Amino acid sequence: MCGIVGYVGSKPAVDILLDGLEQLEYRGYDSSGIAVKCDDAIKVYKAEGKLSNLKEELAPHAYEISKATMGIGHIRWATHGAPTVVNAHPHTCGCGKLVVVHNGIIENYKELKAKLEEKGCKFRSQTDTEVVAHLIASIYGEVKDLAKAVQLTTKQLEGAYALCIMHNDEPNKLVVTKRNAPLVIGVGENEYYVASDVPAIIKHTKKAIYLTDNQVATITPDSLKLEDVNEQELTPKIEVLPWEPVALSKMGYKHFMLKEIHEQPDVIRNILVGKLHTSDSPIVLNEVKLTRNTLKELNRIQIIACGTSLHAAMIGKYIIEDFCGIPVDVEASSEYIYRKTVTDSHTLVIGVSQSGETADTLTAIKQSKAKGSHILIITNRPDSAMAREADSLIPVSAGIEVSVAATKSYIAQLTSFYLLALYMAEIKGTMSEEDLNKIKSEMLLLPQKIEQILAHKENIQTCARKYSNTRDFIYIARGINYPTALEGALKLKEISYINATGYPAGELKHGPIAMLDETMPVLSVLMNGKVYEKLLSNSEEAKARNAKMIALTNSSDQKLDDLFDYIIRVPEVDELLSPIVAMVPLQLIAYYIAEFLGKDVDQPRNLAKSVTVE
Ligand code: M6R
Repeated sequence: MCGIVGYVGSKPAVDILLDGLEQLEYRGYDSSGIAVKCDDAIKVYKAEGKLSNLKEELAPHAYEISKATMGIGHIRWATHGAPTVVNAHPHTCGCGKLVVVHNGIIENYKELKAKLEEKGCKFRSQTDTEVVAHLIASIYGEVKDLAKAVQLTTKQLEGAYALCIMHNDEPNKLVVTKRNAPLVIGVGENEYYVASDVPAIIKHTKKAIYLTDNQVATITPDSLKLEDVNEQELTPKIEVLPWEPVALSKMGYKHFMLKEIHEQPDVIRNILVGKLHTSDSPIVLNEVKLTRNTLKELNRIQIIACGTSLHAAMIGKYIIEDFCGIPVDVEASSEYIYRKTVTDSHTLVIGVSQSGETADTLTAIKQSKAKGSHILIITNRPDSAMAREADSLIPVSAGIEVSVAATKSYIAQLTSFYLLALYMAEIKGTMSEEDLNKIKSEMLLLPQKIEQILAHKENIQTCARKYSNTRDFIYIARGINYPTALEGALKLKEISYINATGYPAGELKHGPIAMLDETMPVLSVLMNGKVYEKLLSNSEEAKARNAKMIALTNSSDQKLDDLFDYIIRVPEVDELLSPIVAMVPLQLIAYYIAEFLGKDVDQPRNLAKSVTVE
């Protein structure tokens, strides 16, 4: 989703802004732009499509803009108005002296626009953001103070925003503010950086200030003044960022997605360190701040999430119910927030999010918190807005995930759910010692099993090529692997644009079976366990309709050779842990199909990594 950068200091601003935008590309975008302060005017440059187009646009002006030491930049993921140059940010006021970049949605922009038009403002774009530029400029005309104009403007704005603004009459000054959208200020030596996310600033500084909602910062090369919207001065809290720039390298892999898939064994190892030592030692999960007594008495859990995190949540439900006997509801955050939810101080609410910034999940969390629920957040970003809402925070520590398609963060979320479920089961005494030890000892072996899959990925690559020429793809599974089928299908459709759907296999004959014929690949997630035979029968039913059958299995059953056209074998694993092992080949199938079809694997069309608008 949109990304903002800003710089004020003494270095050439253009390179810093462009590099910052490049580091935010993973968020997903369809146009870009920068504005820099040149000798006596602010110059704005914009382009449709990738950043390379913006660079081409800038090339003829290289000399003119090379001396600029202050500027703002933006990558836009279109919400209001098509991804055209005129809709790209930065947006200017009527006279061009004030420029704004914005991430979020101004919900009352139509009313504001009508009022501004009555006053004579002429709008050029279809965006909600242009309203902000005109509104600040109109107030600035009266108060002649940029920070004050921004403070007064925000009182009129409804919705979500992170804003970075500069004005030609206030040289060497950036004003930034935010509400329900991320914004971080990097603190350098006589310079400041602004960004929607850490990767854009980490190579310049590790010192940063996370702006909280309704704070306004006025930044010059050697000063930072922090106020609330009523001009009350606040003390900025400077934090040290726990990030390393090297994390953003592809390390020789063709795509970030492939690199991130290969990181998964180490991601699991890192999570288990300090939490699961041996199969017979108790789980250590100091991050859970509920008392043992509260946990013992806990009788209801709600999990809220979106996309891939929602699929992790569905598996979380399965194992918490299985291990602990606590009823768990799982719901898409976007649905949760618009209905009457029965949540109270006796409910544990778990929010799951890679980014920790997903607008729907953040709103859902805030709603539950207001009702008194204990909020447990499972996120890959302990520095995120959701993490700041948490009563208990489980950082999944997968390292920064650049590819828009989530892979290692999903495996990390699952691993965290297993630890949480085992931890609660130990406290509640709901599992036998033998069962606990069995699951724990198998968990310790998961990294090796994934390494075995990755070492023999050629078979998966061949399978992907064989079925890449299809318009539709069906994934079937039962029980604990039903969410695996959903996630496998999501991965494929996200990066290859093939119409892929996951079904609980027992539902096939209630409708979807009508679609099956010799053109339809059906992939069956066939793991040994209590639903194995049932899923085998469902696969037979699909075969009888001439579907092209693929098995992802840990079974050595010979009869599979007759039933399936292609078989991908994975190492033996307990059914309850099989979602982790089964997911890796499904990620690889999606990757190799998309790569074979020549798709933009890491930045698929229309998608954003951090969905910061509802
Ligand atoms: O950052 P979050 O986990 O909250 O994001 C939720 C979804 O937007 C995300 O999982 C999305 O579905 C990914 N593109 C999946 O690959």
